[in-house]
Amino acid sequence: MEVGQFNERGQLRHLLTLAELDRGHIEEILELAGRYLTPVGAAAPRDDVLKGCTIANLFFEPSTRTRASFELAAKRLRADVLNLDVNMSSRAKGESIIDTIFTLQAMQVDVFVVRDASTGVPARIAQHVAPHVCVLNAGESDVSHPTQGLLDLLTIQRHKGDVREICVAIIGDIKHSRVARSAYQALTKFGVGELRLVGPAELLPDDTVFQGARRVTEMADGLRGADVVMALRVQRERFAELGEIPDPQEYFRRYGLTNERLTLAKRDAIIMHPGPMNRGVEIDGGVADGPQSVIQEQVTNGVAVRMAVLALIHRHIDSVRGAAP
Ligand code: CP
Repeated sequence: MEVGQFNERGQLRHLLTLAELDRGHIEEILELAGRYLTPVGAAAPRDDVLKGCTIANLFFEPSTRTRASFELAAKRLRADVLNLDVNMSSRAKGESIIDTIFTLQAMQVDVFVVRDASTGVPARIAQHVAPHVCVLNAGESDVSHPTQGLLDLLTIQRHKGDVREICVAIIGDIKHSRVARSAYQALTKFGVGELRLVGPAELLPDDTVFQGARRVTEMADGLRGADVVMALRVQRERFAELGEIPDPQEYFRRYGLTNERLTLAKRDAIIMHPGPMNRGVEIDGGVADGPQSVIQEQVTNGVAVRMAVLALIHRHIDSVRGAAP
């Protein structure tokens, strides 16, 4: 059964993938995110739109940025937040994920934020929840990471404006990357000028996905003239065979993003990385911390994007509650 992401009023209810969002939906989220952005050092933005709502973070894979930013976003909107310690949860004793969801729903959880290593888990949860409950995908296998795609697009737009004029180079293990898939969905909806997928042939996706993107196996060809350079981690945990994981030193020698290589990109190119970074493998520390890096801005923008998504799905929760007898 397909799960719709919008309710019958056209309001965002679940955020499972960017594939079904049109440009207008994304613009609405990013416009609201812009209003939730304040400079680092200023007071964090606050709103009480989620007062009376309960958000549960269910992270069945490790996370620093996504989990912390969903928690902060929810708290800054005055929600109650539950961070389930999944290793200590009854799932470890054989309870199914859906029984865990029903249990938490009985405690009046309104929003589930879910990260899982298996494809389809957020959608399966969305099929089972009560009518007022929302599900947000916080990273699904190698398939989808929609809030990351949104924060990446926001970061690029804030530096480069209209993406139709620019070249974006995504470098690394694109085959296993949900970040690259969601960035591709976001950028192509806005008509990105050129998208290059750069890496060793064995880490590039096949032709059935990323249609319209150019595959490049030489770093120099991938970097030349790029406006945006996004480095990705080699996702060791998603390789079927340990023997297929590239040697870190050899990988850095061929595909590491160094200041020397960066001179091939445009002089005002920005450097992005979704994190977690492996310095000295896909990116040199001097590039990660250098003047062209916007990696910390991505993190800041991530909180604002998650605040915006939570504030928008609250309209669905409110509309169901308002209609209840
Ligand atoms: N970018 C990202 O998803 O980072 P985390 O795994 O730390 O959440």
